[in-house]
Amino acid sequence: MITIAKTVDEVRSIVKGWRKEGLSVGLVPTMGFLHEGHKSLIDAAVRDNDRVVVSVFVNPTQFAPNEDFESYPRDLNKDAELCEKAGAAVIFHPEPSEMYHEDYSTFVDMRTLTQVLCGKTRPIHFSGVCTVVSKLFHIVAPDRAYFGQKDAQQLAVIRHMVEDLNFDIEIVGCPIVREADGLAKSSRNTYLNEEERKQAVILSQALKEGLSLIQQGERDADKVKNVVRSRIGTAPLARIDYVEMVDFKTFENVKEIKGEILTAVAVYIGKTRLIDNFIWKG
Ligand code: PAF
Repeated sequence: MITIAKTVDEVRSIVKGWRKEGLSVGLVPTMGFLHEGHKSLIDAAVRDNDRVVVSVFVNPTQFAPNEDFESYPRDLNKDAELCEKAGAAVIFHPEPSEMYHEDYSTFVDMRTLTQVLCGKTRPIHFSGVCTVVSKLFHIVAPDRAYFGQKDAQQLAVIRHMVEDLNFDIEIVGCPIVREADGLAKSSRNTYLNEEERKQAVILSQALKEGLSLIQQGERDADKVKNVVRSRIGTAPLARIDYVEMVDFKTFENVKEIKGEILTAVAVYIGKTRLIDNFIWKG
């Protein structure tokens, strides 16, 4: 049976034991309700490291009061099964009070990258993410940590934080894993009813159309964004939060498509907010 560590002391002492044996350690930070996307991160971590810790923690500080912290799906037994099968050694599953004691007051805030895209709609989100990920990095002290490219802004923010704060940890980004029809895998897909699930495919279809325009030589970002927007608009249940094209280093909006460009969308399908993206390098 996979070990489930619930306290900081417990996971630290396990990792210390591994370090004494000279073993390398990979960390896969998650909020649980694991799917194939998470499994691909765990697979990569198992491939690269002697031991792998998967953290399963629905982090309250990255949710605003009006968001889905309470209803976020949870299933530790199923998560443990997936982690064990994939070859992870330990799940770190703390209670919120273990991570944030009563008078907790230290947060990691980034002044660039976090005010745009998802940070515009979710102003406290990246502060919560950077704070919890820093804490996980201090607690587990891994050699490598694994994040999915579906959350491309999160991946860029974490890379930047690691550089700014001198964490001696390699950040490994892993490709988006998709359902057969193209919908990016996400724990939030479980919120969708049958009709919403059908229409949710519009995100990946619209992005595909945008990418194909770029591949055909289009370099005007507004033209590509308009095509993506109109395609999303064909799904009656879709409401666009944003469709943006930004420089993948600075996260500044681009007019002309050149260099490394992130095209990212956030779309409500019914009440569920979904994100997807592609990165193009020219
Ligand atoms: O991507 C997620 O699931 C979360 O934002 C993370 C990185 C585990 C931090 O809570």
